[in-house]
Amino acid sequence: MKERPVLPDAADKAAVVRAMFDRIAPRYDVLNRLISLWLDQGWRRRAVRAAGIGAGDRVIDLGCGTGDLSALAARTGAWVVGVDFAGQMLAGARRRGIRADWVQSDAGRLPFPSAWADAVVSGFALRNFVSIPTVLAESARVLQAGGRLVLIEVDTPTNGLLRRAHAVYFNRIVPQLGALLSDAAAYAYLPRSVSYLPDSRELQRLIESAGFERVSKQRLCGGAAQIVRAVRAEGSADHRPQHSTQKM
Ligand SMILES: C[S@@+](CC[C@H](N)C(=O)[O-])C[C@H]1O[C@@H](n2cnc3c(N)ncnc32)[C@H](O)[C@@H]1O
Repeated sequence: MKERPVLPDAADKAAVVRAMFDRIAPRYDVLNRLISLWLDQGWRRRAVRAAGIGAGDRVIDLGCGTGDLSALAARTGAWVVGVDFAGQMLAGARRRGIRADWVQSDAGRLPFPSAWADAVVSGFALRNFVSIPTVLAESARVLQAGGRLVLIEVDTPTNGLLRRAHAVYFNRIVPQLGALLSDAAAYAYLPRSVSYLPDSRELQRLIESAGFERVSKQRLCGGAAQIVRAVRAEGSADHRPQHSTQKM
């Protein structure tokens, strides 16, 4: 019988997402290269540049997975700590010998003191978080004033033709490739998980409410992906949201 692709609600999401990434960890990197047509590492390099990461910076990589973004950040000479709640993804990162530290933790409850980091980065993890406002508030807490937040995420092209071609590729071909080479349910979840993402205006509003300013967005590859950058505002107000459930 075919496995039905599930889009879990907030109550189940953390457990379902963690189990899914633990399952796909062994083939995660290969599938990433393949389904992004080898563009994903270039996007991560641009994110590292957008975050202005350099030697001596303290960098936290949220939802670091097998460590691709952490590795590129670490190459600059920064002190990078990758955070992920899926043990098998972190095990993959550890095996690569990347010069970084790894912490198994939920991105919504970070084990760092306030104002510890110069930059918080996150690659393709935002839509997987149960509560985006909670993760943004934690990012604001651990960043010092002027610290940079840089998020890479998937996006939807605005140009009609590109949008249609992208929809066929992302919604039909990617799940089939995933089913063939890795895990059917996980790669059916991938296009569906886009519905967890707020649109650009709402994401900007959430980022600003968490205590950031100068929010900007860079479209990549005609809008197939995006880099969102913001700067931690001065001031120590606690921007933690009252409710930790994300509207979906
Ligand atoms: C699509 S992968 C991205 C991995 C990596 N950043 C990359 O660029 O390939 C998303 C990662 O976020 C992690 N993740 C999702 N929700 C999380 C949470 N609440 N706390 C920590 N990690 C989380 C998953 O375990 C997974 O490894």
